[in-house]
Amino acid sequence: LEGIIQIRQMRPSDVDALLVLEEESLEAAAWTRQAYEDLLSNPGRNCCLVAEIDGEVVGFACFRTVDREAELLNLMVLPQYRRIGVGTHLFERIVVDLRESWVRDVYLEVRHSNIPAMGFYRHFGFEMSGRRPAYYPNPPEDALTFRLRLSEAD
Ligand SMILES: CC(C)(COP(=O)(O)OP(=O)(O)OC[C@H]1O[C@@H](n2cnc3c(N)ncnc32)[C@H](O)[C@@H]1OP(=O)(O)O)[C@@H](O)C(=O)NCCC(=O)NCCS
Repeated sequence: LEGIIQIRQMRPSDVDALLVLEEESLEAAAWTRQAYEDLLSNPGRNCCLVAEIDGEVVGFACFRTVDREAELLNLMVLPQYRRIGVGTHLFERIVVDLRESWVRDVYLEVRHSNIPAMGFYRHFGFEMSGRRPAYYPNPPEDALTFRLRLSEAD
């Protein structure tokens, strides 16, 4: 993957491709065009990255930072490109950005049934921190919250 994958900032012109990508993955948060545009129009607190292979967007990640906390808002990799490290490349870039901004903790929510995503997050050291009953609609399901501590220092 080294040398053929490119991680870059998301651009407004990516949104069409992302809406198509989303249809390939029901586990990812399904966002509207407006949701992407809102995030991209507030680059101070939000950061969205895409992964490209041969000029094709094969995955993306979005997070939001408030003070020393960050929230992973959405992350997905096209099914045919999973388990080859695309998610890792995205996540490692996120962590570099967050450390530079002195972020201490990263939080996220995941559907209780989303075992692959939990495997991915645990791989990076996330630990379960709570449960939000019936957090998700369609179908209703609990969210599990996970936390990763990036820095011990206050
Ligand atoms: C979660 C997701 C982004 C992972 O992306 P990926 O590119 O396949 O991840 P990587 O190849 O970098 O995997 C890194 C490590 O995470 C863990 N991991 C990844 N997928 C896993 C799975 N299905 N089951 C268990 N562990 C998994 C493994 O430890 C893996 O290392 P390994 O392949 O050497 O065993 C991808 O499965 C996805 O798009 N899922 C659907 C969308 C989604 O659920 N997003 C999260 C919403 S909260």
